Amino acid sequence: MDDLTVTLIPGRNQEREAVLERARREWADIIHSNSGARYAWDGIADFDEDLLILESPEEQLLGALSFCTRYGDEKNIYVSRIGVIQDHRGYGKRLMQEVAKIAAGKGQGIVALPTAEGQRLFCRIGMRLRPRGSRYEPEYAFTPDEAKRFAEDRLTGPVLEVKGYQK
Ligand SMILES: CC(C)(COP(=O)(O)OP(=O)(O)OC[C@H]1O[C@@H](n2cnc3c(N)ncnc32)[C@H](O)[C@@H]1OP(=O)(O)O)[C@@H](O)C(=O)NCCC(=O)NCCS
Repeated sequence: MDDLTVTLIPGRNQEREAVLERARREWADIIHSNSGARYAWDGIADFDEDLLILESPEEQLLGALSFCTRYGDEKNIYVSRIGVIQDHRGYGKRLMQEVAKIAAGKGQGIVALPTAEGQRLFCRIGMRLRPRGSRYEPEYAFTPDEAKRFAEDRLTGPVLEVKGYQK
């Protein structure tokens, strides 16, 4: 896992345009069949949000996570989209760990609104399900302290039994 690279690309800039172009090129054959690539693509294409991209040592684009801080809730980072092109290799967790480092640096928590697949990931890494206002959509959350501990790989307990991944 250590040979993977995660890069932060804030908002709209030339680098972001270049990543979009790369995703268009590198994922041309899978964009319609691979839901991870589609989610990642939507995140890359949303220039209103900040972006993390995950790359292999060969500089292949493996996935992306888009996030933002919402007006009125500056206490949290919201993960809007996360997608990876190959499942169960620890890529999703790695992206979440990087966004947790950003949150930890600002004393923020993390909130994620998941799909079914996202739900399993967020649950496995130790995020807690909590009610979301008057609506019934589930919302997963790390408190600022939990985000910090996850960023440092110190979150323990039954939900975070990480096996099989090399760090
Ligand atoms: C959701 C997604 C990003 C997860 O990424 P991933 O790289 O497969 O997740 P990881 O390999 O880092 O897994 C982290 C943990 O979650 C578990 N996990 C992840 N996806 C899982 C799934 N679909 N079923 C069961 N467990 C899953 C892993 O087993 C792992 O647990 P472990 O560390 O205890 O072994 C990926 O499946 C994806 O891109 N899905 C399509 C897009 C999507 O639905 N995005 C979510 C939008 S909110």
